[in-house]
Amino acid sequence: MKNSEWIAILDYGSQVTQLIARRIREQKVYCEIIRFDTKAADLAKRAPKGIILSGGPCSVPDADSPKCDPALFDLQIPILGICYGMQLTAQILGGAVKPGLKREYGKATLHVTQDSPLFQGLEDNLQVWMSHGDKVEVLPAGFKAIAESDNCPFAAMHDAKRKIYGVQFHPEVVHTPQGAQMLGNFAYAICGCSGDWKMSRFIEDNIAAIRAKVGSDHVLLGLSGGVDSSVVAALLHKAIGPQLHCVFVDNGLLRYNEAREVEQLFGNAFGIDLHTAHSQETFLSALAGVTDPEKKRKIIGKTFIDVFAEKARGLRGQVKYLAQGTLYPDVIESVSPIGGPSATIKSHHNVGGLPADLQFDLIEPLRELFKDEVRMVGRELGLPSYVVDRQPFPGPGLAVRILGEITQERINLLQLADLRVREEILKMENHLDVWQYFAVLLPIQTVGVMGDDRTYENVIAVRAVQSLDGMTADWYKLPYEVLNNISNRIINEVKGVNRVVYDISSKPPSTIEWE
Ligand code: XMP
Repeated sequence: MKNSEWIAILDYGSQVTQLIARRIREQKVYCEIIRFDTKAADLAKRAPKGIILSGGPCSVPDADSPKCDPALFDLQIPILGICYGMQLTAQILGGAVKPGLKREYGKATLHVTQDSPLFQGLEDNLQVWMSHGDKVEVLPAGFKAIAESDNCPFAAMHDAKRKIYGVQFHPEVVHTPQGAQMLGNFAYAICGCSGDWKMSRFIEDNIAAIRAKVGSDHVLLGLSGGVDSSVVAALLHKAIGPQLHCVFVDNGLLRYNEAREVEQLFGNAFGIDLHTAHSQETFLSALAGVTDPEKKRKIIGKTFIDVFAEKARGLRGQVKYLAQGTLYPDVIESVSPIGGPSATIKSHHNVGGLPADLQFDLIEPLRELFKDEVRMVGRELGLPSYVVDRQPFPGPGLAVRILGEITQERINLLQLADLRVREEILKMENHLDVWQYFAVLLPIQTVGVMGDDRTYENVIAVRAVQSLDGMTADWYKLPYEVLNNISNRIINEVKGVNRVVYDISSKPPSTIEWE
């Protein structure tokens, strides 16, 4: 990469190494995560402004634990060791690390005991997050303790002359509220960075890397209309233009007008080579009579692969690569810290399960990013807010929001009700605080009155939740007026609905989706 100023992060396998990168990027400083055993001489050629040694699950005193090249400490480049990285620093430079008998895990109070550029501008007592077993027992020559905690006399250390720093806690996690400022201090006050990096640099660098990798070959992308695949499409289109071919499977289970929006934006506005599989009928007939939620999901997954594969086969002759919108959280869920295979692979994020004749090399340009960073990239690339701020939407689409049998009529009804939920919530100034909101069609009918007549019609449940990551969620306290407008509009405007209810369950024990 051609960045003038960057920080190297050597990865010792911590689950949160990528968070260090993210915090450094937030400081507008470019960084890269590189192998833990990168040779000092190779690193020196690329002249980073600073080096961070990450945390990791191993124990420094173990002979076979991952070590850094000791010559790193002679490069005269500032170094910050975090947790395992601090212990490694201490051991290599002649201190002593003691294997911990018990793990210290959780919040701790840090008392800053010495002036240090690392803590510049911060209070003397700070909340930090600890997660370690071993600890430094003897500081190496030239080092001073700069902070302590109740359990840890050497909670932070420095050799200010050589600009080598170590912290036993994790400044990169949110449970260390001033951690971002400490990393900022490292980048600016200690490494002398100027902060010239912005997301547009990520885009430029990524485009150059994609061009170099793809050359004159062609790339296939499954476009779903969701944030991740849309951003990959826009990025690849900018990088390789007509060498990108997108397949969009319209399964008929998308939200109102969504399929048309995808075609208009990517096919017409961007001018991407877009191949839509109009497969509504195929999905509907595969789902006919099915009410079991797991069966619905399986059928949709399999039908998707069949439809996608057929379209992909039509392009196979020219295509070498398959692009995917894998994000960093998918990567950490799929690979163990040191790179081995993990127990759980999040398959619904990938076009996994493609038949053997359709194996492509992968391109995953977003695999270092978190969701909000992907949204920033999308905005930079000119994608409209209705795409970059789109809420999560399940792969099986409206099928898991139509309880009971799926028919075209019930899809139409749910789409119209759901549109009204979305329109009313979008009118709220703070609608982006609502993580997800949608309508669910229940498999029951209830009695109502319309004029002098008795009706026997459908019930719509409205779901709106707040959440940080979808793993846990609470029902959103929508203002009564918004609930009132949603209910009135659905009952008055959507034929076949005479009752609207609001779902007030949290996750757990409920889930966000109803199926
Ligand atoms: P639940 O219902 O398990 O959902 O609380 C958590 C989050 O995941 C979304 N979701 C899915 N996303 N494929 C996806 O890509 C799926 O099959 C799927 N099922 C649920 C859901 O919308 C929520 O954001």
